[in-house]
Amino acid sequence: MKTFKKIKLILLIAVPVSLIGSSCVTTNKISNVTGALLWSENCIRCHNAPSPTDFTDIQWGKIGMHMKVRANLTDDETKKIVEFLQSAN
Ligand code: HEC
Repeated sequence: MKTFKKIKLILLIAVPVSLIGSSCVTTNKISNVTGALLWSENCIRCHNAPSPTDFTDIQWGKIGMHMKVRANLTDDETKKIVEFLQSAN
């Protein structure tokens, strides 16, 4: 009987903690995937998609503006792609 109570207590604590932990991780992953996904879908239309390590953060900012016009991207899409390319440096 005592052991059962202990297990119940552990579950009561462990389940909410693991839920909170995993939801944070998921949010992070989704925002990263969005920029990476936009990059992989858009930047290969005209040339090989440049690797995030090809340019510096400052260069990516300029390239983002440049390719935004060419690729017809929205402000939001450009921001996400540039953030993804800069985050991988
Ligand atoms: C509509 C076609 C098109 C799309 C889509 C496109 N590019 Fe380009 N890109 C070009 C052309 C054409 C050049 C070479 C001439 C120039 O520099 O404008 C180029 C050149 C580049 C260069 C070389 C440096 C520079 O600024 O000239 C980089 C880096 C680059 N693109 C990154 C990207 C990224 C990142 C994306 C996705 C957001 C992208 N491109 C999407 C057409 C495109």
